[in-house]
Amino acid sequence: MRTAILASGRGSNLQALITTCQSGNLPIEIVAVGSDLPGAGALMLAEEAGIPARVFPISNYQHRQAQEEDILIWMQNNEVELLLLAGYMRVLSPYCMSQIHFPVLNIHPSLLPAFPGLHAQRQALDYGVKVSGCTVHFVDEGLDSGPIILQEAVPVLSEDTEESLSQRILAVEHRLYSDAVRLLALGKVERTGRRVHILQQEELG
Ligand code: GAR
Repeated sequence: MRTAILASGRGSNLQALITTCQSGNLPIEIVAVGSDLPGAGALMLAEEAGIPARVFPISNYQHRQAQEEDILIWMQNNEVELLLLAGYMRVLSPYCMSQIHFPVLNIHPSLLPAFPGLHAQRQALDYGVKVSGCTVHFVDEGLDSGPIILQEAVPVLSEDTEESLSQRILAVEHRLYSDAVRLLALGKVERTGRRVHILQQEELG
């Protein structure tokens, strides 16, 4: 599956996906990496891996739709069949989503539907939950609201800081995102409305 990845930050999830691909354990081809932030570490990681990287700085555009139009054209030119958001800190507009006719996945550092949006780990600490985790889900038109593919829990410890909880969750994210993408690429993800069923070996035709 020809895959594009959008990332706004340091790109550790991007790197984990690249590494898993390179080791032959993820049957996708990462053909393009994009970011809304010129200095994003993710862009450098892509270049180091020999993957073409493009920046779509929001300040270059008169309005958000123009930026998204460029992203849509970029995906079309790259014949993209799968889009992965890996720490991409912008919500794709309903217009943009309506123009994409292939799966879009996101990873979020909480057990959704708890703590959507920014600073999910801080929200979890402030709420006082004892368990948090991460979620890989299909992107829909809402904020972190699409059908859930995989989730995994991690404990929240009383001595945790935002940094220590983020690191514990991140270690799981790096494995879980590849696991979800692999299931999708192997045709093992069946979606009916909000419900996502992971097909077992014996259910595959
Ligand atoms: C990750 O924790 C990811 O789950 C989160 O941003 C971080 C990106 O780290 N995404 C969101 O909060 C999206 N709502 P990375 O740049 O090292 O992959």
